Amino acid sequence: MTFREDGTAALEWAARYLEQVGEFPVLAQVEPGDVRKRLPPSPPEHGEPFADVLRDLDEIIVPATTHWQSPRFFAYFANSAAEPGILAELIAATLNSVGFIWRTSPALTELEAHTLDWTAQLLGLPLGWHGHIEDTASVSTIAALAAAREANGGRVVVCSEEAHSSVERAARLLGLETRKVPLDAEYRLDPTAVDLTEAAALVATVGTTSTTAVDPVPVLADACEAAGVWLHVDAAYAGSAWVCPELRWSQAGVERADSLVVNAHKWLFTPMDCSLLWTRKPEALRAAFSLVPEYLRTSDDAENLSDYGPALGRRFRSLKLWAVLRCYGREGLQVRIREAIRLAELFEGWIRDEPGWELCAPRPFSVVCFRRDGSDDENEDLLARANATGELFLSHTRLDGRYVLRLAIGNERTTEADVRRAWDVLKHS
Ligand SMILES: Cc1ncc(COP(=O)(O)O)c(C=O)c1O
Repeated sequence: MTFREDGTAALEWAARYLEQVGEFPVLAQVEPGDVRKRLPPSPPEHGEPFADVLRDLDEIIVPATTHWQSPRFFAYFANSAAEPGILAELIAATLNSVGFIWRTSPALTELEAHTLDWTAQLLGLPLGWHGHIEDTASVSTIAALAAAREANGGRVVVCSEEAHSSVERAARLLGLETRKVPLDAEYRLDPTAVDLTEAAALVATVGTTSTTAVDPVPVLADACEAAGVWLHVDAAYAGSAWVCPELRWSQAGVERADSLVVNAHKWLFTPMDCSLLWTRKPEALRAAFSLVPEYLRTSDDAENLSDYGPALGRRFRSLKLWAVLRCYGREGLQVRIREAIRLAELFEGWIRDEPGWELCAPRPFSVVCFRRDGSDDENEDLLARANATGELFLSHTRLDGRYVLRLAIGNERTTEADVRRAWDVLKHS
């Protein structure tokens, strides 16, 4: 078999998978260890045909896959790998660029900077911010907090009780202490409770992981400015919504941030992984990370993106984002984001109107938090039964100590019929 023939078969496999993904059980129906039991204990001595790899995908891998591409994946933050992004990943692997300095891949370096500028324009961010890509928001936040520590020498990271765990993990890694701020009644950081003593950074979240609450960024920006504290905004999920002007209310104050993370792999239809980090203080990131060994010294006067984060070797991640932005355009992104929100609003209405069910938090974007009347255990069992049907996958959170179900819409293939089916399953579980 040749590369071309195997490639055609692989593409056919991918196309068939995407056509059929809505029929698979969304949450993998396997036990820990099941996959390894089916794999040979040792690698092959001699090379095998690629067709055998494809066969094992169907027999071993797909049955043990939780299908993030399913239209009824409603857990965590539902996302989608759009087709142009999937194809661009193939091409990125084909080029196999390693972008540690400009000359090792000029196209990688410049396309990354350029797509970040494009995305900033699409999201209505200030012109002139420096943007680059990290793998995940966890690493983007590590980079931002390292820059903050470098910039002001503080030793505390301040964030709300609902900030993502990656903030505390980044602080721990950087030898910083985390100071959690209590919430207001709508699960936003309560600005009256902020103490910035010895703070390096305050992390404000636009779109918290539990309820997608929006912290009051303008007043937090005032406080940070007065105290000389770095303001990092975590808009990993909700930042993509800013492509729609009617959702830019949630961007208020973000223009005053020192750094901002938005995950293109969460709600910008780009395959995992692609986390976008912008800063208006690139010199602080360089101060934290730039360290050029002799073998990488060059005389060209070009920017090296490895100066802005922990990794030296960098994948050609911008290629997939570029492909999605080009093939969808502003309009295509807006249509998809608006549809996700419309569907979430619809589901929210069904919960509101159904006796015995309760909405548990405001819904700014496409995530609905709700529960059925009854105990935490009953709601937990309800979720387990619903997920065990294979028809859908939802996850949960805890609000004010209570067990709460979350329905997150974000997959571009999700239709109204999918959301209705989910509601049906939940009602009868
Ligand atoms: C608000 C927020 N920030 C950060 C993260 C971490 O994202 P990543 O998995 O890209 O590290 C998440 C993950 O869901 C999130 O919801």
